[in-house]
Amino acid sequence: MAYNISLRHGLSSLSFAIGAVVLVAPAMADIVSDGQTIATSGVKGVVACATCHGAKGEGMAAAGFPYLAGQGAAYLMLQLQGFANGTRHNPIMEPIAKALSPVQIAAVTAYFSQLPKILDAKALSAQAPTYPDKDAMGAWVANRGDWDNNIPACAQCHGPGGIGIGQNFPALAGLPATYIREQLNAWQQEKRAPGPLSLMGDIASRMSEAQITAVADYFSGLPEAVKSAAPASAPASQGAQ
Ligand code: HEC
Ligand code: HEC
Repeated sequence: MAYNISLRHGLSSLSFAIGAVVLVAPAMADIVSDGQTIATSGVKGVVACATCHGAKGEGMAAAGFPYLAGQGAAYLMLQLQGFANGTRHNPIMEPIAKALSPVQIAAVTAYFSQLPKILDAKALSAQAPTYPDKDAMGAWVANRGDWDNNIPACAQCHGPGGIGIGQNFPALAGLPATYIREQLNAWQQEKRAPGPLSLMGDIASRMSEAQITAVADYFSGLPEAVKSAAPASAPASQGAQ
């Protein structure tokens, strides 16, 4: 537990350092509003993010496009920087991230980060059993880990049911199963930067293919937790003050 606390503390200083770039003038509301323009209308040479990530940042599960709404700004920023500098690979996202300036990246990630999460924390936590059936590999690894192989429970850093924690630990619940699997495989093959403190690179390298498939199916299959219907008042069209 002490390990976890100091780890989170370390990471929150990290996100503070990244966040500081965003927090200098102009005012946050202006930054978010610039980000909204990029997300919903696009900018020169960049198609609107909403085309694939949804009008409310809810993603497009059927197409395998991840949601962005409510993910930590520091996390999202690291990902766009990764696509831009070639430490994370995806044929669609690389040219998009390269076309954005650092200021535009800061704006668009601030925008997506302040959109309401598409996940229901209470419902998710109710679905995360403390003592899952030992035969249910996905639920077991997610909630208990596999300590024989030095794999901590995913929930330790990603929250109960994969709701996400703070700026650096993204939500996993309801992400497309193929997407989760591909990310874990990319870390195993060192095709995605290992992230803060190399945490995910190390963990993925110890996972078996069966565990990866099981845990990807588990997190993506927590559908009750994902608010399928959009909130009545669409934040994207409401202006983000
Ligand atoms: C044509 C479709 C498309 C458009 C347009 C698009 N994206 Fe993406 N985005 C994707 C796909 C596909 C992925 C998954 C990439 C992967 O598998 O690594 C992704 C992943 C991401 C991620 C990583 C998410 C995570 O959880 O790690 C971020 C951040 C992101 N996109 C931001 C943006 C922003 C900001 C824009 C607009 C400037 C944008 N995207 C426009 C398709 C798109
Ligand atoms: C010790 C903390 C820690 C544990 C335990 C952990 N993760 Fe992570 N995870 C992270 C961090 C930090 C990131 C962000 C990595 C980055 O910035 O690229 C991450 C990111 C991810 C992502 C990328 C999400 C996206 O939107 O692209 C996936 C998938 C993931 N973790 C799966 C898992 C699974 C499955 C487990 C359990 C076997 C797990 N994690 C356990 C810290 C952890």
